[in-house]
Amino acid sequence: MTMTSLRTVAVSAIALAAALCANAANAESAGLTLTPAPAKAVRAEGTFKLSAATRIAFAKGDVEARGVANQLADLIRRSRGFRPVVVEGPAPGAIVLTREGPAGEAYKLDVAPGGVTIAAAKRAGLFYGAMSLWQLATPDAAKGPVAIPAAAIEDAPRFAWRGLMIDSARHVQSLDTLKAVIDAMAAHKMNTFHWHLVDDQGWRLEIKKYPKLTQVAGWRHDPGAAVKDPKYGGFYTQDQARELVAYAAARNITVVPEIETPGHALAPIVAYPELGTAAPDASHMGDWGVFPWLYNTDDATFAFLDNVLNEVMDIFPSPFIHVGGDEATKEQWQASPKIQAKIKELGLKDEHELQSWFIQRVGKSLDKRGRRLIGWDEILEGGLAPNATVMSWRGIDGAIAAAKAGHDTVLSPHPTLYLDHRQSGSWEEPTGRGKIITLKDVYAFDPAPAQLTPDERKHILGVQANVWTEHMQTDIRMQQMAFPRAIALAERGWTREADISWDDFARRLPAEMARLKVLGVTANTIPFEPSPKLSAGEGGKTRLDLSAPLGVGEVRYTTDGKAPTTSSTAYAGPLELAAGATVKARTFVDGQALGRERVYKVDPASLNTRVSGQLKRCTSQVPLLMIDDAPAAFDKRAMFDVDIFNPCWIWEGAELPKGALLTARIGQIPFNFQVGKDRDKIPLRAPATPGGELEVRLSCTGERIAAIPLGDSAKNPALSTVSGRLPAQAGKVDLCLSFTSKTLDPFWVLERVTVKPAN
Ligand code: ACM
Repeated sequence: MTMTSLRTVAVSAIALAAALCANAANAESAGLTLTPAPAKAVRAEGTFKLSAATRIAFAKGDVEARGVANQLADLIRRSRGFRPVVVEGPAPGAIVLTREGPAGEAYKLDVAPGGVTIAAAKRAGLFYGAMSLWQLATPDAAKGPVAIPAAAIEDAPRFAWRGLMIDSARHVQSLDTLKAVIDAMAAHKMNTFHWHLVDDQGWRLEIKKYPKLTQVAGWRHDPGAAVKDPKYGGFYTQDQARELVAYAAARNITVVPEIETPGHALAPIVAYPELGTAAPDASHMGDWGVFPWLYNTDDATFAFLDNVLNEVMDIFPSPFIHVGGDEATKEQWQASPKIQAKIKELGLKDEHELQSWFIQRVGKSLDKRGRRLIGWDEILEGGLAPNATVMSWRGIDGAIAAAKAGHDTVLSPHPTLYLDHRQSGSWEEPTGRGKIITLKDVYAFDPAPAQLTPDERKHILGVQANVWTEHMQTDIRMQQMAFPRAIALAERGWTREADISWDDFARRLPAEMARLKVLGVTANTIPFEPSPKLSAGEGGKTRLDLSAPLGVGEVRYTTDGKAPTTSSTAYAGPLELAAGATVKARTFVDGQALGRERVYKVDPASLNTRVSGQLKRCTSQVPLLMIDDAPAAFDKRAMFDVDIFNPCWIWEGAELPKGALLTARIGQIPFNFQVGKDRDKIPLRAPATPGGELEVRLSCTGERIAAIPLGDSAKNPALSTVSGRLPAQAGKVDLCLSFTSKTLDPFWVLERVTVKPAN
């Protein structure tokens, strides 16, 4: 054995011993329901009884501690239904907030039968100690008094930046919704709310000097076939933004505003065309994708940005101001003689160096007020001011390059931390992008890339998940996409690597879901719940698969109509059921329900119908889960699961020995995607009739066996139903379904298909 390997063994043994010690003292072995798991938690004998008679005490004159005490009392009232009394000065047997504790965001929490102490030198630490105590008081959804297990907790964060980005540009959320999101973040010790306030689709922050930013650029015409209201949008007044900043600050959350430059700038250029290099077209403000409109480089444009950023900095005390920098495609700069002359005048090589110069110039406005610039990882291209911070979104390569170049960086990589992707393969998932990023995928994200040395890793400020809202038309959908996944990231941002345990995190999920509900956010339950898959069983029976997509806990079910409980039969494999049978099923973790009870009535006829999400996409280039935009209450609208680069679906394993009647419910979505030249790659098959057809092939490259005319369906903005006969086929066949059309408008999508075999 060489000296080096001996040394490695010795070091590993010490590391292993340290890890074992840490494990022995962490929340997993302590069995507590604390999320994020704390650095150290040791259980002791007995419990502390929290009831309406409990007092929360703070030292005389400690205004900050009084505030935290009241926040804790309010949360206890919301979850348990009673409010402990907050008292100033000594109070034996109380929950006592004291400043004799660790600095920064760290805290100590001692729970003993005779009283509780939350100790932290700073308000942030006191607040986090209070959040931990609230979590210990909410191990489940029950109301009334609770016995909190005695424990000694010493806790501090792993990373300084524990962020969540909400996109309020594509769809606007109410201030109340954003406050609920902030409550949920704070309860899980997240401390950075990145507010995406500006994009091509809308400008959302009142700027007093430029009223047209909100009067004009705050509104758009949504291109949905039947959404006739030309005024979709809205904005936040400066007073509202200040209200949110204060609300967040009281919960140890910094609001980092983002004003996008030089791209994603259609909206401000619509309001003030002199800011751009090409005439804006407001009709595109309802599109999605990467737009060509960029700010120009006139002095007047920088004066505009300087004025805007000054108002922004007046509202947001955040040390960081986000200036965007992503996806600024350079066609307009390439086509503009004025911009080309500017590149020459500055002695720059190309448009990338001009973007770098642009960002550095914007950064000067921030420097003047002692703020730090942060931008998406494209700001690295062409050079960067030394104090600029890089938010890595195109994977983590940007973070690695930034850290190696000595820049601070935040990890928010696509796809793992992009919460606009769906959370499971269930067809019931809310709208979003089609790749599956599960709660477990987010939890498994490694925030310490092996490519970096320990010194370089010091530049990683932390982690952030991003909620882009193109396909989240409602506040509820935004919350369902953000939660519970944001909680998994909260743990990755706070908890040390040695204490990361998916199994332990999963054990805490029922408590987490109950807490999120109390905090007023609607979290997605679908991945936890039994997800029915029906198929033909033996002897005319129907086979029902009840597995839950995420596989957390165990599914239990009944067939006698009773609600499933922890003592109901555990699901161990597909059930063979007769027509008319009713199955009630639910997931349980450690004796607590997780997700809703689901009820399935076995109807063999339903085997003949599949919604688009139960069909197979022919390809998955840009898969989206979209809603129909025909006029109806949002949550009654049909869902389409479609690859927008190839709208084509496969019904696998159809049996039609005597032929079948195929009935399809179809809809149309506006093709409002800015995909540049890729648009030409979307296959268009020539129609044979004026209204086009739904074509059916035997596998996508095989023989066409039916072409069902769509007739006048294009005139109907809502769902239409078409049907036609399929000829007899031997054995099992895969039916490939696609539409003919001369243009991308109408863009046909399948909502559901019924294949009823002839007999
Ligand atoms: C981004 O997703 N364009 C930052």
